[in-house]
Amino acid sequence: QWTTASIVDEQVARIRERIGGGRAICGLSGGVDSAVAAALVQRAISDRLTCVFVDHGLLRAGERAQVERDFVAATGVNLVTVDAEERFLSALAGVSDPEQKRKIIGREFIEVFEETARNLQAEAGEHGQHYDFLVQGTLYPDVVESGGGTGAANIKSHHNVGGLPEDLRFRLVEPLRELFKDEVRRVGLELGLPETIVHRQPFPGPGLGIRIIGDVTRQRLDVLRAADAIAREELTAAGLDRDIWQCPVVLLAEVRSVGVQGDFRTYGHPVVLRPVSSEDAMTADWTRLPYDVLERISTRITNEVPEVNRVVLDVTSKPPGTIEWE
Ligand code: XMP
Repeated sequence: QWTTASIVDEQVARIRERIGGGRAICGLSGGVDSAVAAALVQRAISDRLTCVFVDHGLLRAGERAQVERDFVAATGVNLVTVDAEERFLSALAGVSDPEQKRKIIGREFIEVFEETARNLQAEAGEHGQHYDFLVQGTLYPDVVESGGGTGAANIKSHHNVGGLPEDLRFRLVEPLRELFKDEVRRVGLELGLPETIVHRQPFPGPGLGIRIIGDVTRQRLDVLRAADAIAREELTAAGLDRDIWQCPVVLLAEVRSVGVQGDFRTYGHPVVLRPVSSEDAMTADWTRLPYDVLERISTRITNEVPEVNRVVLDVTSKPPGTIEWE
């Protein structure tokens, strides 16, 4: 019988054995998986862990401040924030293929981690220990859907599974690789992480980059960020955060439709609301959100985000749809 406490003990022991007296860095995405992975490794090796938060410009509104504030307050972990918007956006320029985007983002993450490890090493001086280990919050479903499970097709390359370079100079530590999301949440609570972190809705590592259908530009990101912030605000205000698994907002950047605002014709872009209910993200059902909540979201987005003149609802389950559009 696996209790949460025994999962924690077993993982902590395994991490200690793997890392020994070495040092590790852990990429924090703002999501629950990397937060729990980091907290587990911190329990195992204490301040020989440094967390790295990459601000890749594909984040949602307020996300960076939340990680810098809440996660550090909860764990006291060493955190380095890296400003990497410029490099991610130039690497993504002109790319609209979903798998290519995922691979580019995965590669840039690794390069930033490698540079950060080198900088930390330089600060520690010649006799400091190397940062040889990279902690990732990979879950069992990520492994399966990236084609790493037995016999599974590659559905999507999760940024931290399918996007890794072959000559990776880190040794990986993935303490959640055998767990599902609900188990990860229980482990997080067991480790003393606050509910605000443990019950945060999933958000993909590649961020808003895979929620823009078409190539990713700063201007499109700003539009999507504004629409996403409104949807999240209204869902929270309606008390629905714990009822839905997540609600991606997707910008159809290559689609335009005619609308009317006041006395004027508009020719703007649609955004898609993708509210889903799920147990483990392997399958999902579209959530029947109350009409009045949908109406508030739609009215506010079309009033407050000038580039968007239409809000549509995705009523596809998984399968056949996936949760994210890319
Ligand atoms: P899909 O779109 O495959 O998503 O049905 C399943 C769950 O995984 C999240 N997701 C990701 N998480 N890196 C992540 O950390 C990724 O590359 C990634 N792609 C999808 C998605 O938000 C959903 O919760």
